[in-house]
Amino acid sequence: MPISIIIGAQWGDEGKGRVVDWLASSADIVARYAGGDNAGHTVALEGEVYKLHLLPSGVLHDQVISVMGNGMVINPVNLVREIKALRAMGIEITPQNLIISSRAHIITPAHIALDAATESALGDAKIGTTLRGIGPAYLDKSGRAGIRTGDMLLDVEVFAERLISAIEATQDSLRQQGMEALDARAAAMSYLEAVDFLRGFIQDASIYLHEALTDGARVVCEGAQGTLLDIDHGSYPFVTSSSPTAGGALTGLGVGPLRVDRVLGVAKAFSTRVGGGPMPTELEGEVAKRLRGSGENFWDEFGTTTGRPRRCGWLDGVMLRYATMVNGFSELMLTKMDILSGFDELKLATAYEIDGLRSDHPPVTNEQLERATALYETLPGWTEDISGCRTFAQLPTAAQHYVQRVSALCGVPINMISVGPERDQLVQR
Ligand code: GDP
Ligand code: IMO
Ligand code: MG
Repeated sequence: MPISIIIGAQWGDEGKGRVVDWLASSADIVARYAGGDNAGHTVALEGEVYKLHLLPSGVLHDQVISVMGNGMVINPVNLVREIKALRAMGIEITPQNLIISSRAHIITPAHIALDAATESALGDAKIGTTLRGIGPAYLDKSGRAGIRTGDMLLDVEVFAERLISAIEATQDSLRQQGMEALDARAAAMSYLEAVDFLRGFIQDASIYLHEALTDGARVVCEGAQGTLLDIDHGSYPFVTSSSPTAGGALTGLGVGPLRVDRVLGVAKAFSTRVGGGPMPTELEGEVAKRLRGSGENFWDEFGTTTGRPRRCGWLDGVMLRYATMVNGFSELMLTKMDILSGFDELKLATAYEIDGLRSDHPPVTNEQLERATALYETLPGWTEDISGCRTFAQLPTAAQHYVQRVSALCGVPINMISVGPERDQLVQR
């Protein structure tokens, strides 16, 4: 601290929410910096399972102020629904403990319609988005045509007219893609109640953070999505439209790099991906089934936001080393180690072979990545249930060896290993 950045090191769903919840106990502020309700972060606490899409995963801690940064794209209606659902579970969320940046962008009903239209036009080549309007909202942001959360502070009629114009501006694109045009007025009106509800939460979050940091606040920046979904560094075009990587935390919150003293990469002990795009270590068959789980447990590999089964495979050390490089991780954490119990042996990809040539780094083009064959190292498995382990020494030797090998491959320490979804199911070194 003062600033720790927590980043998904793979294709999302690494367990960021549970780690942020853990770190939040010794933080003053937890701030989301990218993405929107495409994210689904799970926090399991004393039998209750919280699934957060927009709110930072610190909301469950009384002393934490939650910040939603300018790098986010926010669907106001879904945010109000999430706040009310948590309030119904006894979690207090007020303008005193939640701050929404006035510079974040708003996801409009037109963005959601366009997301569906674009995906449907792509046919088999679709990205497999979460259909939350994320891509079209960021497109309007970079095209300088977006509506910002700060605009929600305008006179309600002025805001409504702005929203109607923004929706009208997309009608042609919708028609061109064979979709029905929206009733812009009705769509805009459906937002006004949420806009009214959220007004009191909106302020300049960068100034708030700057002042809090000056007063000595400890800030945890919560990444959404993952490094391999990053618009610049991910497996383009099968990526999201924001910057989940370390640089995105700085621009997505308006804080400077010299405040950061920890960049923690969160990686699942195996690989998962939801949506389209290449995945060199993807498996079919029994091993994949075991990694995925049956769907009976909330931690099984089915999307938190969309419910889609996640594609599963062995840990991809090539991608993990790359993620360590582009983010400058100071350390890595491994989650879901308990799921690896019971395999005779484990495989870890340490290089790729592409067109007969060995490569230690992921290739740039999607086509090359599709042709990449993972080259594996085989490590011994373990049979013990490790979900009760709390120290590194309690882990079976083979599990310790697995952690040490991943750490050596990436060149950074691994000091936290999670062995179950509950807050305290954590091994710390
Ligand atoms: P996020 O998007 O990175 O926050 O991750 P998700 O919440 O989408 O997916 C991670 C899933 O794994 C959630 O259901 C978590 O409860 C679960 N989980 C996290 N850590 C562990 C762990 O160590 N063991 C097990 N079994 N489940 C875990
Ligand atoms: P968390 O924060 C996993 C994936 C989608 C799709 C691609 C683009 O829970 O880790 P989008 O709707 O963003 O335009 O979809 O990105 N994706 C995620 N996959 N976890 C996420 O978030 C994701 N957010 C987006 O499946 O492949
Ligand atoms: Mg998730």
